[in-house]
Amino acid sequence: MIVVTGATGNVGRPLVELLAAAGEEVTAVSRRPAGGLPAGVAHRQGDLADVDGLKGLFEGAEAVYLLVGGLGDELRPREIVAAAVACGVRRIVFQSSQVAGTRTDSVSHEVLRAFEAAVRDSGVAWTVLRPGGFASNAFLWAEPVRSARTVVAPFADVALPVVDPVDIAEVAAAALRDPAHAGRTYVLTGPVAVSPREQARALAEALGAPVEFVAQSAGEARAQLVRFLPEEAVDGMLSVLGEPRPEERRVSPDVERVLGRAPRPFSAWAERNAPAFA
Ligand SMILES: NC(=O)c1ccc[n+]([C@@H]2O[C@H](COP(=O)([O-])OP(=O)(O)OC[C@H]3O[C@@H](n4cnc5c(N)ncnc54)[C@H](OP(=O)(O)O)[C@@H]3O)[C@@H](O)[C@H]2O)c1
Repeated sequence: MIVVTGATGNVGRPLVELLAAAGEEVTAVSRRPAGGLPAGVAHRQGDLADVDGLKGLFEGAEAVYLLVGGLGDELRPREIVAAAVACGVRRIVFQSSQVAGTRTDSVSHEVLRAFEAAVRDSGVAWTVLRPGGFASNAFLWAEPVRSARTVVAPFADVALPVVDPVDIAEVAAAALRDPAHAGRTYVLTGPVAVSPREQARALAEALGAPVEFVAQSAGEARAQLVRFLPEEAVDGMLSVLGEPRPEERRVSPDVERVLGRAPRPFSAWAERNAPAFA
């Protein structure tokens, strides 16, 4: 049996579908009830912050997919990993972030680095996935595109190789099922760097309707984001988006190495998700 935490999120949902389609017995975990899971998939409500409760969730699992849903400040990585190992889990795949590797002093990625260290020290087979920015971050633009056919974003022409969450899910499924991925850390990106302005253009093409791009200053973006997120997280995010390091701009070969095909481009994500913007 494979336990997938974060099962209702951008990566967890397609991951559960892929594993179920491959005939795996899957337990999908999230704090809230989940609808729309494939037939035969068991859903269990659980909170990674409740380590004692995790023992009941991990019991009988061969492999666990772990991800941090929110900021994760309340989580105790070593205790969570120890709970999985104590339950007999033999393989742990952890969804981290590329930034955990490129900015080792980033305060907002401390929790991810602590999880990485905990799974590497766990004594069981582990794989760490370090995705770059998700294509699905463009869902932030869904409402303004629906209501005003407008995308408002900073760093209009700074291009990054955003990754499709379905590609992350496919790599995750491979790592959960195949011991050949044990001991590996994979950086996951899309096939080409694409700027916010180019992403808006891809959305317009997918919709078959014009979408206006309105450039926002970094200060305006910051003022908007600090209403929802801690300042250090916002500053870290804006630094990656506005002043990416060379390795953050680079296309990684790892999706293709694992899946034997190129990663999906942003345009494919836009076409698949166009109904959310229509
Ligand atoms: N977005 C990006 O560009 C990006 C880039 C690199 C790495 N990442 C990393 O990816 C992760 C987010 O992945 P995602 O986008 O697939 O997730 P997501 O769409 O934000 O969904 C989060 C999932 O985790 C569950 N969850 C949240 N807190 C939980 C808890 N305490 N216990 C159990 N389940 C919990 C949520 O359901 P409930 O709320 O019902 O529990 C939901 O299923 C973060 O660690 C982030 O740092 C993101």
